[in-house]
Amino acid sequence: MIEDEAVRRRYLHALGITQWERRSALPVQGGAMGQPVPVADAPLPGTDADSLEWRALEQTVRGCTRCPLHKTRTQAVFGVGNKNAEWLVIGEAPGADEDRLGEPFVGRAGQLLTSMLKALGLAREQVYIANILKSRPPNNRDPLPEEVAACEPYLKRQIELIRPRIILAVGRIAAQNLLKTDTRIGALRGQRFTCPGTDIPVVVTYHPAYLLRSPLEKRKAWEDLKFARRVMRGEV
Ligand code: URA
Repeated sequence: MIEDEAVRRRYLHALGITQWERRSALPVQGGAMGQPVPVADAPLPGTDADSLEWRALEQTVRGCTRCPLHKTRTQAVFGVGNKNAEWLVIGEAPGADEDRLGEPFVGRAGQLLTSMLKALGLAREQVYIANILKSRPPNNRDPLPEEVAACEPYLKRQIELIRPRIILAVGRIAAQNLLKTDTRIGALRGQRFTCPGTDIPVVVTYHPAYLLRSPLEKRKAWEDLKFARRVMRGEV
């Protein structure tokens, strides 16, 4: 055994590994057939505190009955994307396509949003996309204040977990509810706000559904996106 250990050390040394611990020094757990196996310090993938909380949060949202919209939705739409994203895009509420597919911004407005992000050099998978409301209001009517209030803790926790470097609020409903203001969207554009309770900058732009109806406004939205990029880079 002593010889084996010396041979192992020589191999490890040849591989450039000069620090090791004897197995008996590592915490052990029962392996197959009851033999002890070393337990690495790093947690198993998906078992760190944040991953566990993401899963619990998503499950809670999927089963949420905090407002009457749960009775009319097909499913709750939690959010999608990179949980370590620098960019967090926040929209209004799921529409018919999102309600059916369970993912935000997958309809025509979503395609335009994806193109807008691409124009900035961002793949959809790179950012995180969420909504003020997780359930679709019937006939896409505006969210009611009590619905927004019921959903607010979910978005707040998503923001805390992602810790993005910037939040892009798309559309009046997202901007006004996030910033707790009733200022019209035109007056909110082109400014650097801070997400209440955090130091995360917020930039406001038009909703892609509005841009589909008013394509001449796309130029302004592009200005907003470039402004957001400058804010993200700390240039504003
Ligand atoms: N509009 C939104 O604001 N969010 C979606 O997820 C889809 C359309």
